Amino acid sequence: MLILGIESSCDDAAAAVIETREPGLASVRSSVIANQDEIHRRYGGVVPELASRNHVITILPVIEQALEAAGCGLGDIGGIAVTRGPGLVGSLLVGLMCAKGLAQALGIAIVGVNHIEGHLLAPLLEHRIARPFLALVVSGGHTELFVVEDLGRYRRLGRTRDDAAGEAFDKVAKLMGLGYPGGKAIEELARRGNRKRVRVPRARVRGAPLDFSFSGVKTAMATMLRGGAAAGTLREDLAAGFQEAVVDMLVGPTLAAARETGADVIALTGGVAANLSLRERLAAAAAEEGRTVVAPSLKFCTDNAAMIAMAGSYRLLRGERDALNIDAQADLSL
Ligand code: KG4
Ligand code: ZN
Repeated sequence: MLILGIESSCDDAAAAVIETREPGLASVRSSVIANQDEIHRRYGGVVPELASRNHVITILPVIEQALEAAGCGLGDIGGIAVTRGPGLVGSLLVGLMCAKGLAQALGIAIVGVNHIEGHLLAPLLEHRIARPFLALVVSGGHTELFVVEDLGRYRRLGRTRDDAAGEAFDKVAKLMGLGYPGGKAIEELARRGNRKRVRVPRARVRGAPLDFSFSGVKTAMATMLRGGAAAGTLREDLAAGFQEAVVDMLVGPTLAAARETGADVIALTGGVAANLSLRERLAAAAAEEGRTVVAPSLKFCTDNAAMIAMAGSYRLLRGERDALNIDAQADLSL
């Protein structure tokens, strides 16, 4: 079955075609993303109104490109999976309305997908992973630990109490004048820095060892950058010290969760999973305990539609479909 995935929950409009015969197993035929970073950069963050307006312009061309790259036409598509939340409601509506229109015109099934479920199942696009497995979803909007018991069965073990890790990267990047989004820019700067020269405090949530908190690190960085500590300190060192603190604060609870659940496999996913330092440090720490880390390629870590198609595919294969009146839900939970 060929499945068309459509994603427009934030500032990227994406479409993908995957081919699947068995739940949880698929090959990606195409994955196209229209990135809006240039549009939002000058505002230092995503402007919702601009994001949805641009989705209106790009969504159909992106779908056409995905079909062309997959070497198929709309008539070959057996079902549509589309993000229905969480996200910016104006952005979500563009992809959802487009998907509904196509499903209605083609007479095929549509399923609404939770964006977080997309990130959770993204590792399955390239790897066979036996369930249950542990997953750390770490993105601009989310930092959460889940046990993926099976497709469609998720148990949350921990979450951030304030900022998401990606948000912390973006806010600190903004303070450092590195532009938006800032995760990649901080990583590049950090590569040339010495992480030992700057001491960034690590935060823990008292009584909740599997939860995260990043607002303190962000404030500590703001104080350092504003005050004298930054004078004479290289920006590269500040970036390296900050990145190491964030990585430590992600690795600690994740390994604690792996021990608690006895998980041998840890999936690392979401935009911040593109960070090489996080990938390496988590993999090394897990290996010391005989555990394996599986992370998607960089293009499937950040927002994409192949992961949405994967998250909708097992339901479409079972013959499930949502009614055409499904709505976007900005605060949809898993
Ligand atoms: O998953 P994603 O594309 O969108 C959300 O669902 O949020 O994640 C975007 C987030 C941004 O905060 C961005 O700064 C961060 O992922 N990010 C990174 C890196 N690449 C993207 N953070 C750290 N290091 C990176 N290399
Ligand atoms: Zn995302």
